[in-house]
Amino acid sequence: MNSNVLCESFKAHPAVYAVGREYQITVVTNVETLMWVRVGDEEFYDDSNGIIRSGKPVHKMTVPAELLDSQGGYTVCFRRVIERKPYYSETEDITEINYTFRPVTGENIRIYHISDAHNKVDSPVGAGEYFGNSLDLLILNGDIPNHSGDIANFDAIHEIAGRITKGEIPAVFSRGNHDTRGIHAEDLADYTPTDGGSSYFTFRLGGLWGMVLDCGEDKDDSSVEYGNTICCHWFRQKQTRFIEGVIANAEKEYLAPGVTKRMVVCHIPFTYIYRKPFDIEKELYAHWTGLLREHVKPDFILCGHMHCTEVWYPGGEHDDHGQSCPVIIGSDPFLGRKDMDVFVGCAIEYGERNVKVRFTDQDKAVVGEEEFGI
Ligand SMILES: [Fe+2]
Repeated sequence: MNSNVLCESFKAHPAVYAVGREYQITVVTNVETLMWVRVGDEEFYDDSNGIIRSGKPVHKMTVPAELLDSQGGYTVCFRRVIERKPYYSETEDITEINYTFRPVTGENIRIYHISDAHNKVDSPVGAGEYFGNSLDLLILNGDIPNHSGDIANFDAIHEIAGRITKGEIPAVFSRGNHDTRGIHAEDLADYTPTDGGSSYFTFRLGGLWGMVLDCGEDKDDSSVEYGNTICCHWFRQKQTRFIEGVIANAEKEYLAPGVTKRMVVCHIPFTYIYRKPFDIEKELYAHWTGLLREHVKPDFILCGHMHCTEVWYPGGEHDDHGQSCPVIIGSDPFLGRKDMDVFVGCAIEYGERNVKVRFTDQDKAVVGEEEFGI
């Protein structure tokens, strides 16, 4: 079966997420299934130590990026489970669905950035279709669900990624501060790509190297809003060690052969000091900004969270910690009209010497533009 029609057992088309030098192919089903993917003549299962998983509607299959890039497609294989038993489980025949895949190549990369959808789907998808079939990479940058209090909110992630990419191009996922809220916040890592459970990681797509950082919550862990459920200061300290480790390993990361572009993705723009009670981690965020400025030297940092569309330049009014590069704030979910399904995201043409940023709405109208050299 080919992928042009969405399989009735799937909630959305797969998403092919970049993490490290791998892709994590995520498929969410509306029936209990056993699942694996085939790339070339190799198979990659969604398993738990040799047991094919069926207990959750989300399936994640990890494949080497080099293999999928060279094969240009993959096959999602699954069986519906009739009844899973200790002995003589009953399952249906295998269904196979073929997806083509186009990796990021070349020096001109078209990226669409969506964050802060807050459960909206149709208008972010409309915006994300700006580049049509020439889109190379989708970035979902936090607060795609409104919160994690209802597992159904995670559907917005899979629907947006599936409808825009159709499982045919890569995506990058980064967590936002609203994602940390609610009883299912601890389950989000099962539904989204992680590096061994961590929501911060580096990725490589052709000549593009990227680092996803995760600020976690936006207020101090002691905020009464969190009711003693948050340890984000400790989580951020672990990330400081992660960034320092990436720098120590630069020759295999951003200085690796073939890397020509470097970007950082993070939901919260941590280079800016907010008003109380959001004025947290001044020392730690200054350290992160300094590590990027002195060592990583990204071409830009891509953020959301602010519900506005702007580019903050080094030395500008929002540069509190010493930026070395522009910070793109790339989504406005409401435009001051909470009663309507509107959305503005960010279309990025990432060239050899410059970055062209267009803020575009759900009808593909350009509502703002910026351009800077790299
Ligand atoms: Fe946010």
